[in-house]
Amino acid sequence: MPATRDLLETPAPPTESRVTVQGDRFRRYLSADRIQERVAEMGATITRDYAHTTPILVSVLNGAFMYTADLMRAIDTDCEIDFIKLSSYGDAKVSSGEVHELKSVDADLEDRDVLIVEDIVDTGLSMEFMKGRLQEHNPASLRVATLLHKPTATEPDLTLDYVGFRIPDLFVIGYGLDYGQLARNLSDIYILDEE
Ligand code: IMP
Repeated sequence: MPATRDLLETPAPPTESRVTVQGDRFRRYLSADRIQERVAEMGATITRDYAHTTPILVSVLNGAFMYTADLMRAIDTDCEIDFIKLSSYGDAKVSSGEVHELKSVDADLEDRDVLIVEDIVDTGLSMEFMKGRLQEHNPASLRVATLLHKPTATEPDLTLDYVGFRIPDLFVIGYGLDYGQLARNLSDIYILDEE
């Protein structure tokens, strides 16, 4: 039988305002509370926009797994989920400029309302590649819900339907986003500290 104190809710441990990953320093940029607030707003908008259909969310592995779980819970209408995986940055902070599909979707997307759920749009190359790939399945509609967008780094022609936060063109980690596979488990989002 556990002691009563073990059954009581305990507050989450305080998070650090600065972290060092792979020798680089990052400072907290978006708190977990702020992220949750914004994801809830996005979920409410998506709920309204898809009220009369059953969208299929296509989550982009690995980085979007945490955001997808929260966004999906914030959507209050029927929806489905599938996953796609593209080649990533590897251990670098700068895109190699080459995109490959490592895992394609399993679901039949023909005539479906498809919503790509992405953690971050940087140069936009991955998103352009993915939109092209998914269009080949002849979906009824294809939209994008990205948590983060670096507008100064992205091709201006790329349409992003739902954007959580517009951020500067600096490397970010946490809340699913990694640096050399590390830091995905941080609840807050941290940005490279240039000082
Ligand atoms: P893009 O093709 O340059 O738009 O980059 C898209 C992918 O690169 C994202 O799905 C992320 O996996 C990764 N990425 C881009 N910027 C960052 C960043 O600041 N931190 C972590 N990963 C990033």
